[in-house]
Amino acid sequence: MSNRYKIGIIRGDGIGPEIIEEAIKVLDAVSVNEGFTLKYEEMLLGGVAIDETGVPLPDETIKGVKKCDAVLFGAIGGPKWDNLARHLRPESGLLGIRKAMGTFANLRPAIVYDELINASSLKPEIIKGVDIMVVRELTGGIYFGEPRELQKDQAFNTMIYTREEVERIAVVAFDIAMQRDKRICSVDKANVLEVSQFWRETVEEISKGYPEVELSHMYVDNAAMQLIREPKQFDVILTGNIFGDILSDAASMLSGSIGLLPSASTGNSVGLYEPIHGSAPDIAGQGIANPLATISSASMMLRYALGEEKAANRIDDAIRKALKQGYRTGDIGDFDAVEIVSCAQMGDIVAKYASK
Ligand code: IPM
Ligand code: MN
Repeated sequence: MSNRYKIGIIRGDGIGPEIIEEAIKVLDAVSVNEGFTLKYEEMLLGGVAIDETGVPLPDETIKGVKKCDAVLFGAIGGPKWDNLARHLRPESGLLGIRKAMGTFANLRPAIVYDELINASSLKPEIIKGVDIMVVRELTGGIYFGEPRELQKDQAFNTMIYTREEVERIAVVAFDIAMQRDKRICSVDKANVLEVSQFWRETVEEISKGYPEVELSHMYVDNAAMQLIREPKQFDVILTGNIFGDILSDAASMLSGSIGLLPSASTGNSVGLYEPIHGSAPDIAGQGIANPLATISSASMMLRYALGEEKAANRIDDAIRKALKQGYRTGDIGDFDAVEIVSCAQMGDIVAKYASK
């Protein structure tokens, strides 16, 4: 009997619905070819959930995701909901679902496609061959620390990491490094923050169990600079929630567009697969978004959550082929394009190549 998987689908806001549509198209194409079946279950999160249910993260969604083999997520947020109180904003829905699913490890690969070498704002010789895995802690740090409060004349957040939180994300990073070039750069701000000193010491402890992996440490300000100066020095970057958020956006520009970078948010149970970009309300509904980050996230889902490695490889190869043939969405349209295509056309092309 062929494998059947249940996939939670969260389209969200802005360009979310458009890019998810294309990822589903590609998933359907490869599942037919590789002989497995995907059953989709749609769930609400973000602004659309606020509009329909009054809250950004309905209970039904929390219950629903737990019954899935994996969840594919588009993007949330937009100006319509910007003035709501923090806990009612779409972003709270995303943070809440990450926490509820326990997806503490966010893997954000930044690779540079040779075909897009001219799309980056950096010189080709600096970025050719870049292959970085950012391992971002996702359910702790200043995003979730208590106490937190917005008062009239002051406001505060708390940056806190427990030993358990640092240990488990470090283990993920070391395990990944073992499959790669065996180098980890742990990024912190240990020259200023106690929480970073603690992070550094805890990562050192974990490293003792991985004698083959070379561990280095870097302050986050320097890391931001080094990513732009000489990105090839990095293999795995291990870092906390807010530093990882910022550094992964910076790393995305090595590849030419934030519209290209996928991510996998994993933990001890169901994983969440999402592009690193946001909902891009300015271009929503125009059919011009780049679906490749979401299609790549679907590929990560097949590989990490479902073990369907061959299908994942098909998708990755199809993306490369589409780029090689010169198909470009608008965001990367100025660079060696043979044809500028819409979001849906890009999905069609990748689906076609992936199913051959
Ligand atoms: C990301 C996003 C989110 C984050 C926002 C939308 C809450 O920027 O996934 O990188 O900060 O984690
Ligand atoms: Mn971000």
